[in-house]
This record gives sequence, C-alpha cells and structure tokens, in this order.
Amino acid sequence: MKILTILGARPQFIKAAPVSREIRKQHTEVIVHTGQHYDQNMSDIFFEELNIPKPDYLLAVGSGSHGLQTGNMLIKIEEVIQKENPDYVLVYGDTNSTLAGALAAAKLHIPVVHIEAGLRSFNKKMPEEVNRILTDNVSEFLFCPTDTAVQNLKNENITKNVINVGDVMYDAVMYNTKLAKDSKVLEKHGLESKGYHLVTLHRAENTDFPEKMNSIIEAFKQIDKTLVWPIHPRTKHKLEDYGINLKNVPNLKVIEPVGYLDMLSLESEAEKILTDSGGVQKEAYFLKIPCVTLREETEWVETVANKGNVLVGSDTEKIVAAANSEFVSDYDKVFGDGNSAAHIVEYLEK
Ligand code: UD1
Ligand code: UDP
Repeated sequence: MKILTILGARPQFIKAAPVSREIRKQHTEVIVHTGQHYDQNMSDIFFEELNIPKPDYLLAVGSGSHGLQTGNMLIKIEEVIQKENPDYVLVYGDTNSTLAGALAAAKLHIPVVHIEAGLRSFNKKMPEEVNRILTDNVSEFLFCPTDTAVQNLKNENITKNVINVGDVMYDAVMYNTKLAKDSKVLEKHGLESKGYHLVTLHRAENTDFPEKMNSIIEAFKQIDKTLVWPIHPRTKHKLEDYGINLKNVPNLKVIEPVGYLDMLSLESEAEKILTDSGGVQKEAYFLKIPCVTLREETEWVETVANKGNVLVGSDTEKIVAAANSEFVSDYDKVFGDGNSAAHIVEYLEK
C-alpha cells in the first residue's frame, strides 16, 4: 500500500506518530506537511522527539483566514496527490489541513481514510465541526475512537467502513508515558508535583471574544493555586490585540508551548487540568487527572459521563468552583486498547 498522510497542526503530529510507525512496518508512506503550524515548538519539536519521519513535502501554507488557508492547501495538496498517485490519503481530526486533504483526494477519486472520524459537538459555529462533517462525508474509511462516534455517524446514515478502533491518542500516551518520566520540565519551572493546575486555551470560541477571555482570566486570578499555562500562539496574539497583560496575574506562570514529553509530564503531575483542547481533555482522562473544560459542550462525552471532566464554559464563578471542587472519576476504559494504530493498518490491509 502507498499511503499519503496529510499533517499540519500540533495534535496531528502526535496522532500520526503511532500510525506512521505501524504503516512503515510493511508499507510506503509519503508525508505532506501543510505548514498550518510552523513555529519550532508547534511543529518540528514533535517530529524530532516522537521520531516521526521528516515530511516528504512541506507546503508552507502558514496562517490566514479559513478560506485563504484551506484554499491554498487544496491547490498544493492536489498537485502532490497527482504526482504521487497513492492508494489512500490519510487525514486526522478536524483542522483545515484535514478538510483540504480530504477534499483534494475525494475529487481525484483517491479513497480518503479519516482517523478520529465521527466526533460531533453539534455546534456548527466551531470551524472544527464543519471540517469534521465535510471530511466524514467524503471519507471511504472512517476510523472512530469511541462507540459514540460510530453512533454519531449512524445518525447521519454513514455506516460503510465505519470502525471503532479506539483512540490513537491513547496509543501515543501509552507509548510515551515512560519516556516522559525523564522530563525535567517541573524542575525547569520550579514546580512541585500536585502543586499547580495546568492550563491550555486556544479555541476560537474563547480566544476570539475579549469578554470571554476577560472572564476566564478573572477566574484564574481567583483560583488559589499556581496555574502553569503553556500558551498557544493564537492566544498570545489575541491577548496582545486585546491589551490584556498576564504579567499582572501573580499566580499565573505563562510559558512557551512545550514538547509532547514535557506536556505529558506537566499533565501527569498537575492537580487539575483546565483546558479547551480536545486532545488535552482526553489525556487528562487517560492519566486520571481531573479536568475542567472551558467550553459549553464537548465531543468527548465519555470523559464527562465518567465524571473525569466538567464543562464550565467561560463563566468566572463556574470555573473557580470547579477548580476548587473535588471530583472523583469512574475512569472507565472507553478509548480502546492502546493498539489503535495497528487495528487501522490491519483493516486497510484487509
Ligand atoms: C488549529 C485548528 C484547531 C486545533 C488547533 C491545534 C483549524 C480551523 N483549527 O487552530 O482545530 O485545535 O490548530 O493547536 O484548523 N500561529 C503561530 N504559529 C504557529 C501556528 C499558529 O503564531 O506555528 C498563530 C497565528 O497567529 C495564527 C493563529 O496562531 O493565525 C491560529 O493558527 P491556526 O492554525 O489558524 O489555528 P489554531 O488556532 O492553531
Ligand atoms: N500539547 C503539547 N504541548 C503544549 C500543549 C499541548 O505537546 O504546549 C499537546 C497535548 O498534549 C495534546 C495536543 O498537543 O497531545 C493537543 O493539541 P491542541 O490542544 O493544540 O489541539 P486540540 O487537541 O484541541 O485540537
């Protein structure tokens, strides 16, 4: 098999690491990096520390409005697919890189393989929801991480080649947790195990609204605990635009985005995790760290149902209350067996 993999954003590099390893045992993989993320600590660091093979194509599309970014990717990905003529085009998750890859391939009649298919927030104002729905609708193989995802697709009459293989992010956590034990990130930032909450925040639905950012930061001020915040470049730029200066918040330790192993270490040693990230909600659950999600809804409903995660939106009081409360999770195993990548490749071989 010749598989052309489209990557572009941080979580996709992490998801691709286990799958790429599995594909290359017996098959050919061509990696295309759209360039959606390009800072060293948003891109290269993951290829280096997770041993992801260097991309064969760097499209260097960079940042821009949705139309500009997705359109430029579409033009360039089409050229690569025509040149490489792969058996499958593989896309991950729900970013603009996902949609561009899926659309380019489908129009050229190359079967699209979607990993992390079937996720829904039922909020079409999220750019990710639009990307997911469209990608799922042009995909030939839909690898779902959970039964809920399979059911979501069934509700949309998508049933052919829909398989629950578990979550490749669980594979990644299982594989890398031991390696993360060598991380020195706590010492580097003067942190103690359970002496802080970890924060990540980058969703457009929060960062694009100054009033929501003010409400969230007000909550952070009121939480009686050090908050360690590896800040996403989108959020940094938005806060600068809004004239919000985090240096005035004494319990906030804002740091640059970290590599995956440092992130796993920060997550494992945190008392709680406050986030609007999809991947970080799941990792909190895998690592059994209570999670406070700064969103109104989540695609990862199992984490909430099993009480490992609470949804608080951007409401100051709710955030503070959740950060200060004790919640005990049932932590049911619902994200597979840690061998999702192998199940995906086996299915494609068949
Ligand atoms: C994208 C995905 C989102 C995913 C997130 C993972 C879409 C629509 N959104 O959001 O689903 O959760 O990636 O992190 O695809 N920037 C830099 N350096 C970089 C990358 C981005 O400075 O290396 C800044 C730029 O100002 C850019 C902004 O971040 O305009 C947003 O980047 P973009 O890739 O458009 O969206 P994300 O918010 O990162
Ligand atoms: N992550 C990381 N360093 C950071 C922040 C996040 O390695 O500074 C990892 C995190 O552990 C998870 C993934 O990036 O595996 C999540 O990506 P992100 O939050 O950017 O996107 P989302 O999952 O919301 O699409």
